Amino acid sequence: MKILVIGATGRTGKHVLTQGAGRGHEITAFARRPELLTDRSRLADVRQGDAHDLEAVRAAVQGQDAVLAAVGGSGIASTLITAMREAGVRRVVMTSSRSVPATRPRLPVTLAWLFFREVYVDLARAEGMLQVSGLDWTIARATMLNDKPPAGRVHLDFEANATGGAMQLSRADYAMALLDAVEDPALIGKALGICGPK
Ligand SMILES: NC(=O)c1ccc[n+]([C@@H]2O[C@H](COP(=O)([O-])OP(=O)(O)OC[C@H]3O[C@@H](n4cnc5c(N)ncnc54)[C@H](OP(=O)(O)O)[C@@H]3O)[C@@H](O)[C@H]2O)c1
Repeated sequence: MKILVIGATGRTGKHVLTQGAGRGHEITAFARRPELLTDRSRLADVRQGDAHDLEAVRAAVQGQDAVLAAVGGSGIASTLITAMREAGVRRVVMTSSRSVPATRPRLPVTLAWLFFREVYVDLARAEGMLQVSGLDWTIARATMLNDKPPAGRVHLDFEANATGGAMQLSRADYAMALLDAVEDPALIGKALGICGPK
């Protein structure tokens, strides 16, 4: 697939680039600071821009089969939805957080909301925008991310509260789950909860 990766220089985004190219996808990296991309050899293209800039996003989505936003937010959702509708690009996977719909485990969720309330409110807004966008969306809600080596497995569910798995998830494993989601049409219109494997 031809996949545009937003947030390509991010800690999850960089794993998406490597793993996506390794799976044989034609990956275009979109980043505000593409000079941070150390290895471009396996990328189909690199686009410089801010994902809030509609003109930059319009140009980048042309000819893509899918967009993988390895960074979430309502401003990014807004430009993506407009640009993708115009270009006729339908498939989009966007990162979000398990904390957005969660009520349990009560203490960690309460503390997370205390510190990251604005981020979660904005992610909730982004999720709502995607859900009514008419696009082929998947929302990928992660638990707490770390940079440990990948396990090659994740715990996946479709619930507001995690049904199992570990509270920490490696970004490399998150990238794997994001690419699995892009490739799987059965996940269109679904919000996934992603935890580390137990
Ligand atoms: N961190 C967690 O524990 C956690 C937990 C649950 C879910 N998540 C989700 O996972 C996502 C990825 O997390 P992460 O820790 O891997 O992220 P990260 O390392 O902070 O990377 C975010 C990337 O997005 C880019 N970016 C931000 N705003 C942009 C914009 N307007 N236009 C273009 N690029 C932009 C940043 O570029 P610059 O270098 O230019 O700033 C950076 O490359 C988060 O966005 C969130 O939705 C995170």
